[in-house]
Amino acid sequence: MTSPASAPLRLVDVDALDERQVTVVETPVGTLAVGLSEGEPFAVSNRCRHLLASLGKGRVAEDGCLQCPWHAARFDVRTGEMTRGPQGALKPFAGVVKSTTGQIALKTYPVALRDGAIWLQT
Ligand code: FES
Repeated sequence: MTSPASAPLRLVDVDALDERQVTVVETPVGTLAVGLSEGEPFAVSNRCRHLLASLGKGRVAEDGCLQCPWHAARFDVRTGEMTRGPQGALKPFAGVVKSTTGQIALKTYPVALRDGAIWLQT
């Protein structure tokens, strides 16, 4: 018999994702950024390592990374690592941010794609 605590949790229907391919989902393990990257589901902690923007309000970039909505830092959704520091006016500091706050990877969560939805494996 499976206990309720270990039952998979339905996070979001794939059809509910817009062109950004990521959204914010409140879960018992915290607020997560959940989406699809190159057809694969992912769930990571929602706060950017730079200035804590909500990553679920960003977008999945053409390279498959999750891009922050504020200064466009990017994260590898498989490892949680920052792959690119902040851009725009902050771009000259991108390397510094990446080598300091970017050292702390986003937390990643095990997920699966099933029945048209992304599920959290608890
Ligand atoms: S808050 Fe995410 S890049 Fe600045």
